[in-house]
Amino acid sequence: MTEIDLIVHGASQLLTMDPRLAAVGDDDPEAARIGVIPDGALAIHGTDILDVGSSEKILDSYRAQKTIDARGCVVSPGLVDPHTHTVFAGSRHLEFGMRMRGESYLDILAAGGGIHSTVSSTRDASLDDLVSLALPRLARALRFGVTTMEIKSGYGLALDAEIKILTAVRRLDGEQPIRLVPTFLGAHVVPREFVDRRDEYVDLVIREMIPQIAGEKLAVACDVFLDEGAFTADEARAILAAASNHGMAPKIHAGQFTDQGGPGLLAELGGLSADHLEVVSDEDVEAMARGGIVANLLPGAAFSLRDSFPDGRRFADAGVPVALATDNNPGSSRSENLPLMASMGVTRMGLDCAEAWQGITSNAASAIGMSDRVGSLVPGKKADLLLLSIPDFRAFLYHFGVNHTMAVVMDGKVIMKGTPV
Ligand code: NIG
Ligand code: FE
Repeated sequence: MTEIDLIVHGASQLLTMDPRLAAVGDDDPEAARIGVIPDGALAIHGTDILDVGSSEKILDSYRAQKTIDARGCVVSPGLVDPHTHTVFAGSRHLEFGMRMRGESYLDILAAGGGIHSTVSSTRDASLDDLVSLALPRLARALRFGVTTMEIKSGYGLALDAEIKILTAVRRLDGEQPIRLVPTFLGAHVVPREFVDRRDEYVDLVIREMIPQIAGEKLAVACDVFLDEGAFTADEARAILAAASNHGMAPKIHAGQFTDQGGPGLLAELGGLSADHLEVVSDEDVEAMARGGIVANLLPGAAFSLRDSFPDGRRFADAGVPVALATDNNPGSSRSENLPLMASMGVTRMGLDCAEAWQGITSNAASAIGMSDRVGSLVPGKKADLLLLSIPDFRAFLYHFGVNHTMAVVMDGKVIMKGTPV
């Protein structure tokens, strides 16, 4: 008997996300694809998973200081939200009202509202303000089971203000449980003061912001918004190539409104994920498949902007890994509810239930370069997991819009017990 710290046993289904670990019959290939172990258990030592298997096998092989009886629960990896803009000041509910009366997101942006309005409020906010404003958003995400989250800058659009946002992310990483992964989005839009000198702004991003932010290790990835009203393909290429030279992984917001070839460009540069992708060419889908680029799809933005949803089926059929994210931001998608995004992945985007689960766990981890640590329940990974009060992994998507999280374990410690609502 090996002595360890924690055993979680009796899970009606343990979702390992590794098909090689599946212990289900041929009658449930969908469960097999996400490595379901019925009556499953985990052996945890320190912060990591040591072993997984049936409850019988784990309870026979290990003795633990502490055990958690997960009877009646599905146990899944902690969820990974791979695209958010969670650090910002101000609220755009008035703009939401205007949009619901028929005004367009891009017209509001072109008139100096939209992203520009959040830039003004965020520039005016102090570092302490930004941290306090983000804490309840992170607490809400954690209650929905999110244990790892990417957060982008992009509402500063000036060196000091971008650094302030990324410093807030760094502080938040230490002040609350969710693992935060910072991305620099200095090229979100051209700030108003540079509107007639956009080349100068691109130069500033390349020559000053990227070297300093990379030098201070304030971000691990760099994103560009390539679309009408934002940056062009040539500008995106120059910015992402510079970021890559400074060790930041390229990412792109592309095809939200118009197809400008962003995913192909990202594949050329060897990036991590192309995000949004409501409008995308067949060539770019193929380039993503060849380049191992994750399609990071954002149903909340399509829902809130009343746009057509990205076609998840098309990417999955082409062999492109599909991730799903909240895109939590004050304009296009104001939500921390990642399980709801997964439900929309199945009901509106053509994914099946196993693919939606991959979208918020294993593929989401790949989209942010974290797949060696989180996103699946296999030996060697972080012991970040959820106890969910559902009878089957499909019920998580079927019973939508509510919270099924009974408990959250991170780094092998129970950090939240919740009453599902
Ligand atoms: O992912 N598309 C660009 N950026 C954000 C929206 C930002 C905002 O409206 O504040 C997005 O949808
Ligand atoms: Fe976004």
